[in-house]
Amino acid sequence: MSNAISFARGAPAPEALSADLIATCTAAALQADGTRVLSYGTGNGYPPLREVLAAEHGVAADQVFITNGSLQGFVFMLETLLSPGDLVAVEAPTYDRALLQLKLHGMEVLPIPVQSDGMDVDVLAAACAAGRVPKLVYTISNFQNPSGATLSAEKRAALLALVEKYGFSVLEDDPYGKLRFEGEALTGLHEADQTGKVMFTSSFSKTVAPGLRVGYIIAPKEAAGTLTAAAGRTYISPSLLAEGAIHQLIVNGHLPGNIAKVTALMKARCDAMVAGLVHMPAGTACTPPLGGFFMWMELPEGLSADALFQPAVDAGITFVKGSDCFLEGGERTLRLAYSGVSPAEIAEGMERLGAVFKAAAG
Ligand SMILES: Cc1ncc(COP(=O)(O)O)c(C=O)c1O
Repeated sequence: MSNAISFARGAPAPEALSADLIATCTAAALQADGTRVLSYGTGNGYPPLREVLAAEHGVAADQVFITNGSLQGFVFMLETLLSPGDLVAVEAPTYDRALLQLKLHGMEVLPIPVQSDGMDVDVLAAACAAGRVPKLVYTISNFQNPSGATLSAEKRAALLALVEKYGFSVLEDDPYGKLRFEGEALTGLHEADQTGKVMFTSSFSKTVAPGLRVGYIIAPKEAAGTLTAAAGRTYISPSLLAEGAIHQLIVNGHLPGNIAKVTALMKARCDAMVAGLVHMPAGTACTPPLGGFFMWMELPEGLSADALFQPAVDAGITFVKGSDCFLEGGERTLRLAYSGVSPAEIAEGMERLGAVFKAAAG
């Protein structure tokens, strides 16, 4: 179909990418520190950006490991801090690429169901009590990919209590938390943690531009050193010019304005998608997200998002099958990214998608 509309890609809309601002920041990085950003550096990234991120997160600079995108950092973590066969608890559903990497690295995955207020911590507690203590819990705490759910304050406290009791590590992945449409941000798991067991990862892919490929991990010093060595032997050092541009963007005070701009663009798109729910068959379930990039839907009994994927493609719409985000099951669910398309395309796309689903519902 000619004007295909993608609800599949979790990427910012073209209007969210501030090419002029990035040009200014890149030029500033070259002017301020040209030799260093054009040279090889160390595996853990551009030192001035590490300093800025360390200050933001209240850690030492040698705990900050900057990577070419946060997914790369996640892969280094699997390769060096975990071993094949380790038990890793994930939200079910979770970020499909993270799940794929866990499987590719031979981890044993423990799925913890996600509710509207985040992962069911009681299920994790029961698993631990039964002797299934994970080595790592991977959680996307805010506006989760794919469900859009945010872990509630109560569940954050309960999860941290389990960390204290059982001593497992947590990786809090939070690329979407700053893109909040309403309400107050909750205290992060890494922020509240007293044990040193909670690591944090985030990215400038969603708040600034994915093409810059700048993501980072905050980890205990020794773990950060292990990750740095892995990066050094893989790509020597990450893209320092991109990190220099992000550094200039932050120190010159442009980040809050950019986040406000992206958030407003995302909210308009989310509103358009929520309005388009009228086209869905009766019994479709969806909790409108309060931030981030994604809307999650469950089709009524008898409909399969997996089976309707190709008919939707034939109607010019793509989405992510929910089943790709689970170890097993999830055939009735789907992830719709409103982030990358215009409100007008979303209106048109929801109408087309609703027609496909309603035709199947009969
Ligand atoms: C939860 C989550 N983590 C990590 C990433 C990867 O981001 P990056 O572009 O920094 O590799 C994504 C991208 O979709 C994501 O949704």
